[in-house]
Amino acid sequence: MASISKTIKKNKQSVAPLLEGSGMIEYAPAPESKSSAKINAKYDLFINGKFEKPLSKKYFDTINPATEEKISTVAEANAADVDRAVKAARNAYNKVWSKMPAKERAKYIYRIARMIQERARELAIIETMDGGKPIRESRDIDVPIAANHFFYYAGWADKLQYAYPNKKIESLGVAGQIIPWNFPLLMAAWKIAPALATGNTVVLKPAETTPLTALKLAEIIQESDLPPGVVNIITGAGATGAAIVNHPDINKIAFTGSTDVGKIIQRAVAGTNKKITLELGGKAANIIFDDAPLDQAVEGVINGIFFNQGHVCCAGSRLFVQESVYKIVLQKLKDRLATLIVGDPLDKNTDIGAINSKQQMDNIHKYLKIGEKEGAEMYQTQCILPKKGFFMPPTLFTNVAQSSRIAQEEIFGPVLTIQTFRTDDEVIEKANNTPYGLSAGVWTDKGSKIFNLTTKMRAGVVWANTYNKFDPTSPFGGYKESGFGREGGLHGLSAYLNV
Ligand code: NAI
Ligand code: MG
Repeated sequence: MASISKTIKKNKQSVAPLLEGSGMIEYAPAPESKSSAKINAKYDLFINGKFEKPLSKKYFDTINPATEEKISTVAEANAADVDRAVKAARNAYNKVWSKMPAKERAKYIYRIARMIQERARELAIIETMDGGKPIRESRDIDVPIAANHFFYYAGWADKLQYAYPNKKIESLGVAGQIIPWNFPLLMAAWKIAPALATGNTVVLKPAETTPLTALKLAEIIQESDLPPGVVNIITGAGATGAAIVNHPDINKIAFTGSTDVGKIIQRAVAGTNKKITLELGGKAANIIFDDAPLDQAVEGVINGIFFNQGHVCCAGSRLFVQESVYKIVLQKLKDRLATLIVGDPLDKNTDIGAINSKQQMDNIHKYLKIGEKEGAEMYQTQCILPKKGFFMPPTLFTNVAQSSRIAQEEIFGPVLTIQTFRTDDEVIEKANNTPYGLSAGVWTDKGSKIFNLTTKMRAGVVWANTYNKFDPTSPFGGYKESGFGREGGLHGLSAYLNV
């Protein structure tokens, strides 16, 4: 115990929770070095293959949410800058990209994939610094899956006629792509790779709190010799995004983010010829039946909600436990929570990193208050949080009413509501009782139960005895307020083609 306290004093950034007599393993700090990440003090807009000063003349800072220190300053594109980027994309589409043989296009996409792999370490460090997610995740999930998306779609580029046998297919033109802060590089890859493979050109805007890995990707794209204008990456906040959405010469809008902004975009695009895909929020149910392997289920639930601080649209934020195993599951959850390490995202031992921004932190705290007011019981682990930065302990709510806001609204933080159920029908009804329908998880030993639930749940993805598994080959997307259209896999190609 004494030695744990000492470690904590020495290392305020990475702090293991204290558990009296728990026999917990003490981890020495293992921070990843920042030295292999080259970050410029200032970034301009990547337009037509070059970094160009913004016509707006404006810049804004991006900070490290784990330290609140400024990392870099990036350009804020206005409508005139957006217009420049769209013109570059249109020109590249008309003169080069739409005319290039598909197998030549594929070579560029493969090259970008390989270059992401070569710079994997640097990209992971920058992702973690700019967004606050644990380095283990950026290193093992974000960056490798981003590379895999480019590899996967490069493979399709010259085989589209096999994907759509006997059909006439054509690219759309210029795609405007707006992405959020929870998987910055991965979302960029997710959007850019299928667009390029199908012969479109791109104007992409990363989120204002996490622009740096997209700008690193712009450097990679520049070095890959991709023809100028095929991919343009511009930075800015909501107004820049709106200028992309409203630009008359864009053929397709792909958006991932909040349901509120998704609705604004849908209204803006209605009545135009723009194609649109929206990937919005979620309030996923994770369901544990009494015949499930409980330790494995608890591990999956923890991964499902605390992974990336709950900043995941498909986070398993609602847990349903069959009544007969409720007590034991709750105890197992609390025991496991006590071992989670909250702290320095660059430390390889860290399980839960920093909340992405002050604004998001405030939003999560607002929901904690709402939950308590609604009469739910809040449980948090006793961990010591770093003094600087946006951190919070993993949080459970029990005694949660089905109608309560914490069980209905997307919190997008490390907060899990727990409810019980008796029968299959009851849990299906409860799980479906949400405005969203992106994903769900089922934990049971019985295949028949899995099939029963997966057919009745209104969710785009249902994981069985696992959670948060992503792969470029499988389509992803939701029902209801979670949006429409599918990304990933063969389905992801259709979003960028007229078939
Ligand atoms: P947001 O939807 O405002 O931001 C997402 C992206 O949209 C950013 O690039 C932003 O600059 C851009 N944007 C903002 N307003 C726009 C507009 N009017 N037109 C075009 N683009 C616009 O999300 P925010 O405010 O960062 O997060 C709020 C909540 O949204 C979170 O608490 C969470 O519940 C949800 N969210 C869901 C995500 C998902 O993956 N489904 C990702 C991020 C947030
Ligand atoms: Mg940042």
